[in-house]
Amino acid sequence: KKSLPLFGKKVMVTAGPTYEAIDPVRFIGNHSSGKMGFALADELAKLGADVTLIAGPTAQKGSQTLKRIDVVSAQEMFEACTAAFEETVITVMCAAVADYRPKQVATQKIKKHDSGLFLELEKTTDILAYLGKAKKPQQILVGFALETNDEENYAKGKLEKKNLDLVVLNSLNDKGAGFKSDTNKITIFNKALERTVFEMKSKTDVAKDICTAILKIVK
Ligand code: C5P
Repeated sequence: KKSLPLFGKKVMVTAGPTYEAIDPVRFIGNHSSGKMGFALADELAKLGADVTLIAGPTAQKGSQTLKRIDVVSAQEMFEACTAAFEETVITVMCAAVADYRPKQVATQKIKKHDSGLFLELEKTTDILAYLGKAKKPQQILVGFALETNDEENYAKGKLEKKNLDLVVLNSLNDKGAGFKSDTNKITIFNKALERTVFEMKSKTDVAKDICTAILKIVK
């Protein structure tokens, strides 16, 4: 075990969606299945890492070796991530965190009326950007970008703006890539903005490719 490349290294992975409450029975969410993040957590653990997996609501079952922290909202994910970050040497933020949440959470179920309903939303904290600011030189931070248009430019912009070491782009334009699918097609950019394009693969094999890219920059 000691010979494994990430033996004993503390790694944090986020996975799945977040749910932002509207009232006690309703929420705003998204289609993230958590498959990519769980596959990554498993691969990193196989490489010997001591993995903390911070997961939003998903049906995925992680392996027993992972330290799993279940969260629901973006705020809970933020708190779990910031609590674990200082000791973490590699962080991979795969979760589809909500960008907005209802400004008021109704304490009782909202009743239906004849008129429409306005929900006022406020921004959540961008966890990845926050960690990018807090990051020390020896820490590695990997983000994801899911785009529908002008994807390479947005991905590179994210890498710089959020102070990332790698950004993994997956496009919704590729069939078989993205949310619920068991396969994914990615492009990885490093800090030098060098691009590596990968074929469509199972999410397990995609996770292996991402780990290989991480191993190249591990300090
Ligand atoms: O800016 P955008 O949301 O497209 O960036 C996506 C990346 O940022 C993903 O790695 C995602 O996990 C992370 N993120 C986050 N907190 C948010 C929004 C996104 O950590 N509130």
